Amino acid sequence: MQQTDEKATIIIGDQQIELPVLIGTEGHKSIDISRLFEEYGITTFDPSLGSTSMCQSTITYIDGDKGILRYRGIPIEQFDRPKPNFIEVAWLLIFGYLPTRQELNEFRDLLTANEMLHEELRDQFNNVPPKSPPMAILSAMLSQLACYYEKFLPLGDDDLFIEAAGRLISKARTIAAYSYRRSKGLPYIYPDPALRYCANFLHMMFSIPYQQYIIGEEIEDAMNLVLILHADHEQNCSTSAVRVVGSAKANLFASCAAGVSALWGPLHGGANVEVMKMLEAINSGGMDPKDCINAAKDKDNPYKLYGFGHRVYKNYDPRAKILRAAADRVFARQKINDPLLDIARQLEEYALNDSYFIDRKLYPNVDFYSGILLRAIGIPTNMFTVIFAMGRLPGWIAQWKEQHDNTTQKIIRPRQLYVGKKLNDYVPIGER
Ligand code: ACO
Repeated sequence: MQQTDEKATIIIGDQQIELPVLIGTEGHKSIDISRLFEEYGITTFDPSLGSTSMCQSTITYIDGDKGILRYRGIPIEQFDRPKPNFIEVAWLLIFGYLPTRQELNEFRDLLTANEMLHEELRDQFNNVPPKSPPMAILSAMLSQLACYYEKFLPLGDDDLFIEAAGRLISKARTIAAYSYRRSKGLPYIYPDPALRYCANFLHMMFSIPYQQYIIGEEIEDAMNLVLILHADHEQNCSTSAVRVVGSAKANLFASCAAGVSALWGPLHGGANVEVMKMLEAINSGGMDPKDCINAAKDKDNPYKLYGFGHRVYKNYDPRAKILRAAADRVFARQKINDPLLDIARQLEEYALNDSYFIDRKLYPNVDFYSGILLRAIGIPTNMFTVIFAMGRLPGWIAQWKEQHDNTTQKIIRPRQLYVGKKLNDYVPIGER
């Protein structure tokens, strides 16, 4: 980030305030208002932070108008083929460069060494109600990791950070699989150190005692792609939650648990579940695609066309494009005919030709096709957002680290515009 020669001027009454203008690598300009309150007692008003850059970052670049997404400068399309491994992308995001073979092998070994859960933590799964939403379990169990690994809480040096990051990425996969096993009342399957990250997850999800789940290469690749495409997305809702919590110097586990809670919301990561409900309702004859479109357009109806629209993308979400093509590929090769894919395509066509969606630049987002691909992998709907969280974890860790490494970062503490009562009096209960 550089300061330009330009200045932004705010005129309030007879007061004229000059503010520095910063510029990012891709030419984006940002007015630096960080000293506005301290020097002039004025705040800016931006309730959902849509016009606020809350940090400078070198991790992910998005151009929402052009539909561009890059991790550390690498266009997302390059992660489709040839197939990099999710762990490689995790390293890239967290440490800023593609790992050497040795670094990758060591990181893999670290993950393998840490794939098991403490037996006491595993027992904790039996203490949550059997039908608990897996996202609730994931958030609670990530927080609980802090109880077992106290040495990682201060995270003073780099070696400790790598160990904590590896442990978290590895254990989150085991926790995710166990949350599903709990929801089904199935026995927990221990991780298999011989398997790669995604295959190991699918093994813990679907193997049963004495009968190992056989994982096809195509399915493993699809899972790998889903995780990579979800790995980071700059300052979205859950990542901002991680940064806000991390800015108080909360540990990595607690900060990422906050990210899971934010991601759970249906306007964010939970949208992939809503998309599936919508497609299933249409498939079962409960709704017509045109009904969905009309309900979403009706301002008196809170219904949304889930999987459509995005705060940043005013163009086709590049992740949705890749996922749609991947779904086509997997379905063709596996000779699966899922009616939900046809319905999704039909809905997309209706929406993209409807002036409501055209005028508002509403296009399919990542959640529109991810569920269909996850279904082809065999993932049940209640696990979709958990998979999203597993994918997003490296991004949260990278963003947490970037903030942690910035010694000038203060605790994030926004202001408000108070519009409540002026001075008021307490009235004892008997006199009200
Ligand atoms: N269906 C119908 N109308 C929509 C939709 C939608 N999916 N998305 C936006 N709109 C409308 C809004 O009502 C608004 O209309 P108006 O101008 O007449 O008031 C207009 O389009 C602009 O939308 P905003 O609400 O300003 O968009 P915002 O940036 O606040 O919200 C969001 C983005 C939350 C993603 C929204 O598009 C949405 O709710 N989409 C459906 C949920 C979804 O798919 N979420 C996943 C997003 S991707 C992710 O988080 C991983």
